[in-house]
Amino acid sequence: MRYSDDLIEEIRMKNDIVDVISGYVKLQKKGSSYFGLCPFHNEKSPSFSVSPGKQMYYCFGCGAGGNVITFIMEYENFTFMEAVKFLADRAGVRLPELEYSREAKEQADLKATLLEINKVAASYFYYKLRQDTGRHAYEYLTGRGLTKDTIQKFGLGYSDRYSNDLYQYLKGKKYSDEILRESGLFNVDEKRGMYDKFWNRVIFPIMDVNNRVIGFGGRVMGEGKPKYLNSPETKVFDKSRNLYGLNTARTSRRKQMILCEGYMDVIAMHQAGFTNAVASLGTAFTAQQANLLKRYTDEVLLLYDSDEAGVKAALRAIPILKAAGLTSKVVNLNPYKDPDEFIKNLGSEAFQKRLDDAMNSFLFEVQVLEKQYDMSDPQSKTRFYHEVAGKLLNFPEELERNNYMEAVSRKYGVRFDNLQKLVNRLAMKGTPAQAYVRPKSGSGSKEGESGIDKAQRLMLTWLVSYPDTFRVTEPYIGPDDFTTPLYHTVADLLYEQYHQGEVNPAKLLNQFTDSEEQRKVAAVFNARIPLEGQKEMDLALTEIVGRMKKNSNAYHAAHLDPADLAGLQKTIARQKELEAFESGRIQLHISTN
Ligand code: GTP
Ligand code: MN
Repeated sequence: MRYSDDLIEEIRMKNDIVDVISGYVKLQKKGSSYFGLCPFHNEKSPSFSVSPGKQMYYCFGCGAGGNVITFIMEYENFTFMEAVKFLADRAGVRLPELEYSREAKEQADLKATLLEINKVAASYFYYKLRQDTGRHAYEYLTGRGLTKDTIQKFGLGYSDRYSNDLYQYLKGKKYSDEILRESGLFNVDEKRGMYDKFWNRVIFPIMDVNNRVIGFGGRVMGEGKPKYLNSPETKVFDKSRNLYGLNTARTSRRKQMILCEGYMDVIAMHQAGFTNAVASLGTAFTAQQANLLKRYTDEVLLLYDSDEAGVKAALRAIPILKAAGLTSKVVNLNPYKDPDEFIKNLGSEAFQKRLDDAMNSFLFEVQVLEKQYDMSDPQSKTRFYHEVAGKLLNFPEELERNNYMEAVSRKYGVRFDNLQKLVNRLAMKGTPAQAYVRPKSGSGSKEGESGIDKAQRLMLTWLVSYPDTFRVTEPYIGPDDFTTPLYHTVADLLYEQYHQGEVNPAKLLNQFTDSEEQRKVAAVFNARIPLEGQKEMDLALTEIVGRMKKNSNAYHAAHLDPADLAGLQKTIARQKELEAFESGRIQLHISTN
């Protein structure tokens, strides 16, 4: 499933890299290269370079790099083929019909058919909403303050009361049961066979950034459980990589994006003129979604519900956004539960004011922290300051750290120089907090992190960045070589995914509910390996596998029961293998294509 190498080369050459990237990044000529702000990480001075001579780009800050096809793949979240098609289009190169392998063709056809079914279903729901039998649904929506225009813009619909309505309709269009089953629109059970998943609900079609319908949400009208039903994930619906409303929000040209929880919230905000609102799809916010947002903005306003669950969700989202290079602020909607209710009661001007008053996410975290301490008790209060000082250490830049110290000292009535002393003292002691310091570049080393931790962290970055790492290193290391508990857990999950045939860091991240853990794991997944050149890559990988082995041998030897003979023999074998690494007798070769 590939065009000829010649054709791909022709397309690449007809798309000058400076031309193409200029459409996305403001570039300035310096010497023989062009420089700009890297679109793949957050930076204030340009370290992203484009070389017209080499027709390559490279970021000295985060290590992103490649040719014009790589750029489009990365920036637009396209597959190789999609990027090639996009660039062919741009340069007016006609592409021949491809000779797909049967399997590839079936997969491509399957996806296309699923999208087509979604589109047909969406139109059907849309039609039903406008029939007599759908009047109560239409009235439900208008009763919630939606205008005709809004209902149409979001393509809202209605699924009828009959439980096989859509099924009959699609069968009439000659779709097979087999493919309908994959659409996620139907339930299957032995007794009843196949029947509609959604019935007597208002329908929210979910679209990707290219306006293709990828799934549906359905809400009961009034009370009833479950309140919302959502399509399951399918071959075309990946909940961790899409956001509701982004197809519209991406073109809103606002400085910020608004992230909220619900479909209705997004719709209410768009109707009120806040067309930069998006929501996750009934699941926790993921690192992939953060990266998606990073393409369109540098700052996200969090508008989670003002209840305990909403605060928790915000605390989880903040580090994920930060790891993607986004700053965030938290909007307070008190006394209303969510944006929809707020706007309905106080209107869009008051809403805008709340957006303007959004609280910096660090100060929000500190505020939540404060509630866990009894500030009238001197000892408890001291512990609070200690914890805040530990968090302040997470700002690697002194100026930024000072600004935050100032804000904290103002808000919590602690003298600046006292707070500063505390922070400096903790820094000197090398508190654990220091291990979380964000590296200046995506892959830089973290002060205070032990060598053992660092090797494991880098190894995980290799595994998610270059899937071939699994194959190459499998004879030598596995999950048990990760001895730091968090990394061991991550490794276990990753290897499991690998053996099931799909490495999916987004899904994996959902396993971590603790925000600090999420942050650390997200950072590992978002880091990049700033190397190019086969030889350099091979050497680096061999070196790190050697280091991993050395660490884990020492660990296992220290935990060995002297009576365990089999274990002893294993230890000896391990030691031999390590020697082979250290003497250079083992040299790994990785393929990074
Ligand atoms: P309204 O109550 O209609 O205003 O909806 P809302 O958008 O305010 O919903 P809420 O804040 O209760 O929930 C936020 C999001 O969580 C929804 O948009 C859904 O994606 C999801 N959600 C809510 N309830 C359920 C449920 O019962 N099941 C599932 N699977 N998802 C739900
Ligand atoms: Mn609501």
